[in-house]
Amino acid sequence: MLVLGIETSCDETGVALVEDGTKIRANVVASQVPVHARYGGVVPELASRNHIIEMTRLLRRCFDESGLTLDDVDAIAVTRGPGLVGSLLVGLSVAKSLAYVRRVPLVGVNHIEAHIYANFLFRNEPQFPFVALVASGGHTCIIKCVDHGAYELLGQTRDDAAGEAFDKVAKLLGLPYPGGPSIEKDAATGNPKAIDLPRPMTETETLDFSFSGLKTAVLYLTRELGSGGLEAGKGNPSRSDLSASFQAAVVDVLVAKVKRALAQTDVRRVALAGGVVANRLLRERFAAEVGRGGNGLHIPPVAFCIDNGAMVASAGYFRLMRGEQADLTLNADPNLRLG
Ligand code: KG4
Ligand code: ZN
Repeated sequence: MLVLGIETSCDETGVALVEDGTKIRANVVASQVPVHARYGGVVPELASRNHIIEMTRLLRRCFDESGLTLDDVDAIAVTRGPGLVGSLLVGLSVAKSLAYVRRVPLVGVNHIEAHIYANFLFRNEPQFPFVALVASGGHTCIIKCVDHGAYELLGQTRDDAAGEAFDKVAKLLGLPYPGGPSIEKDAATGNPKAIDLPRPMTETETLDFSFSGLKTAVLYLTRELGSGGLEAGKGNPSRSDLSASFQAAVVDVLVAKVKRALAQTDVRRVALAGGVVANRLLRERFAAEVGRGGNGLHIPPVAFCIDNGAMVASAGYFRLMRGEQADLTLNADPNLRLG
């Protein structure tokens, strides 16, 4: 079954063709980073407009690159939430129009669920049950995936998402948007042990997260050091030291919480998902500390950690297989919950 997947929940327009939920036939993404960079964050109105501009071009590229046509599409899957409502509506309108014209089934997908399904697009797909860590710009949660469509939320952030913390700290440090990749780059030349930042909520049994205190700690440090203080060679930590120390703190927390989730459940398999999983230190630390000792560890390639249409098509396929189908009243839900 060939599913067309459409993703427009935030600032990436993603369109993909995926067969049987696992085989990618085409996957194209248009990043809006250059559009939003000058504002230091996503401007919702601009995001919606750019989804409209990119959509037709991406659909065409998908069919051109795969040699498939709209006639080959058996169903259409689209992200319906959570996300920016205006952006979601662009994807939904396109998906509904195509489903209506082609008379094929339509299915709405949860964006967090879709991130998890990026793990099903590659060889050695995760076997149920597994623990999923979703760490993105909008969400940070640990979910026990019991079966397709059967999720138990084990923990989530009480304030900022991990990616949001990267983005906000980057702003404090004067690094460009999006913060994750620029902090990672800056951290490469820094000393992760230079500054002893907190590892919030790692001492407690809960699987919830809190990243806002970490961000505040960086804020106070930058104030203390003053604008010139972050320069190397004055005995003060450099900006790179701060980037490296911050990155290490976030990764420490994420690794600790997933380890705790494994200890608290009978599950031995882990799947990582979401934009923050593009981070190299995070990938290395999970491989070294979670992927050993009889645990199974699944990490999608970097391009499939950030938003894309293929993960939406995969999640949609498994929903369709469960007999789910939407009608043309399908609507966006910016606060959609999983489950
Ligand atoms: O999953 P995603 O593409 O969109 C959302 O669903 O939010 O995640 C985007 C988030 C941003 O906050 C971005 O700063 C972060 O993922 N991110 C990273 C890296 N690449 C992207 N965080 C840390 N290290 C990275 N290399
Ligand atoms: Zn996402």
